[in-house]
Amino acid sequence: MTDSRAKTITSVLQEERSFLPSKEFQARARISSLAQYEELRQEASRDPEAFWAKKAREYLQWQKDFTQVLDWQEPHAKWFGDGQLNASVNCLDRHVEAGRGQKTAILWEGEPGDTRRITYAELLQDVCRFANALKELGIRKGDRVMIYMPMVPETVVAMLACARIGAPHSLVFGGFSAEALASRSNDAKAKLMITADGNYRRGSVVPLKNNVDEALRHAPTIENVIVLQRTGKDQQGTWNKEREHDWHELMQKQSDICPPEELDSEHPLFLLYTSGSTGQPKGILHTTAGYLLGCAYTFAETFDYRDDDVYWCTADVGWVTGHSYVVYGPLANAATVVIYEGAPNYPDPSRFWQIIEKYKVTIFYTAPTAIRSFIKWGDEFVEKQDLSSLRLLGTVGEPINPEAWMWYRQKIGQDRCPIVDTWWQTETGCIMIAPFPGATPTRPGTATRPFFGIEADVVDHDGNPVPDNTGGFLVIKKPWPSMLRTIYGDDERYRKQYWSHIPGMYFTGDGARRDEHGNFWIMGRIDDVLNVSGHRLSTMEIESALVSHSSVAEAAVVGRPDAIKGESIACFVTLEGKTQPTPELKTELIQHVVRHIGALARPDDIRFTESLPKTRSGKIMRRLLRDIAAGRQSNGDMTTLEDFSVLERLRHSEEQESV
Ligand code: WTA
Repeated sequence: MTDSRAKTITSVLQEERSFLPSKEFQARARISSLAQYEELRQEASRDPEAFWAKKAREYLQWQKDFTQVLDWQEPHAKWFGDGQLNASVNCLDRHVEAGRGQKTAILWEGEPGDTRRITYAELLQDVCRFANALKELGIRKGDRVMIYMPMVPETVVAMLACARIGAPHSLVFGGFSAEALASRSNDAKAKLMITADGNYRRGSVVPLKNNVDEALRHAPTIENVIVLQRTGKDQQGTWNKEREHDWHELMQKQSDICPPEELDSEHPLFLLYTSGSTGQPKGILHTTAGYLLGCAYTFAETFDYRDDDVYWCTADVGWVTGHSYVVYGPLANAATVVIYEGAPNYPDPSRFWQIIEKYKVTIFYTAPTAIRSFIKWGDEFVEKQDLSSLRLLGTVGEPINPEAWMWYRQKIGQDRCPIVDTWWQTETGCIMIAPFPGATPTRPGTATRPFFGIEADVVDHDGNPVPDNTGGFLVIKKPWPSMLRTIYGDDERYRKQYWSHIPGMYFTGDGARRDEHGNFWIMGRIDDVLNVSGHRLSTMEIESALVSHSSVAEAAVVGRPDAIKGESIACFVTLEGKTQPTPELKTELIQHVVRHIGALARPDDIRFTESLPKTRSGKIMRRLLRDIAAGRQSNGDMTTLEDFSVLERLRHSEEQESV
């Protein structure tokens, strides 16, 4: 672990502030005391299989009940193996059948201010029609479908329609480039692409369709494209009429009845590509029953969900938080979900708070990076809005610094709303460590304790638990229903990445410590994964993008602490032959990375150097580079550094203009 992370531990150790839920909150909470929490926790850990089986029948509707709960052949799990169900039925039909058809499913607000309110009955109808459209285009059970869409209700329709016919979807966040989209589509061998002409972001149009056009030149498995006209700015001039279909035209001719496929519990629900410690993104595979159970159950308990809540998670559906807590978790509970298309500061930084006031949002879930931006933009944008509807706040995606946590509690929660800091990953499918808001005392900066049935621990290299308040590896010791099943097309990598670092345990890639109260304090990634504004990026992926430029000989990318983004991207680059470092080349390299990966991977700093610091065995000394990027003096052991003079030169380059 790096020195910077050690420093984080010391600072959080001094965090003594502790907050109990208010009496009012507690009185109405689903889990309203530590005793009740403890009772459930013990029940789950005494017999996890019996516990999960009970919850699976409570939270899900089965077309065929299961008799087997868990088949665990490490590292492969099958949950509820002989059961059958359909995720779209669980999110829609069962609510409509229970007479809830008129309940609002989605409250949508476009960035320009256009709005839509969609009931469960309407959503079901749209999903059935779209599922029929998918079938018309030849999509069958098991075929993969790419979704490259903005934050519009149709994205939810597309996901649930795929689920209805058993075609695994693979969403790609709109901030990824054409090249990133093509490589994901090729890895998934997808047959269909669903996109929009564009979407609104900070007043301008993001040209999604252009990216798709470019991607399709290198994505040969895609046979058809469905395009939603969101902005109407694309006049179909560039459309290939053979394979491109207009969303609305396709929908018009479909029946609104589409019997759901009866799918095995382990039928793949979706692939979601995420960054790991190597250059190639990995397709995380989630299956139907276990994933849906995890989302539905954690949504209900962590957010203390009640039927009259208006719930808003600000994550983009292209990330796992959007999958689990914009779509599957809330809809499985028949919740009313707010979806907003645009930027938090458009037309001004009060937009989020206006939305909360307008829709009377009761539960609000966002990322620490957004909270830090709001702090920077100023309290006046918060103070002019009425936030009295809020009763619970959540955060996700990165460690939250105590200052941001306190601001969130005081300014947004008005000292009234509990905060649930939720730790989890694309791989875990759903929330793993988080407070139960009516029971758990919270402290700024800790996600507190594991969810029921989750056996989390902090261990050393050999898998031995470390003493309280000592840093170690965060691991999960028992399989859980919503765990990833494999990396699509690369089971060996799945085994190596998650199950071989510490035998018998799931390796999260995060460092953590546990305090004397049993709270987990997440210290961030211990591998080469960056967390930039809550977005997960691999240093290797950015390095490969850089070295693919003809002027670059070698590149090393590290994270640099950033007050708003958590981490920013610092690149150290050596150049080929006689190439001279120039400001133009810097700009070109930045553009090059954006083209390869997407705007979300835009380097914040590029430094040219004659050589990179390496150990005698040739490994780049990233710890040193991190210290240099952060402007810290390194006091680590430097005896293995190949060329000491390199350090001096790198430090001096800091004084030069940086991008
Ligand atoms: C980090 C996002 C601290 C962590 C749901 C993890 C967090 C990675 C928290 C997964 C939190 C997520 N506190 N760190 N509450 N939540 N992380 O796959 O490093 O995009 O491994 O999933 O985000 O990112 P991913």
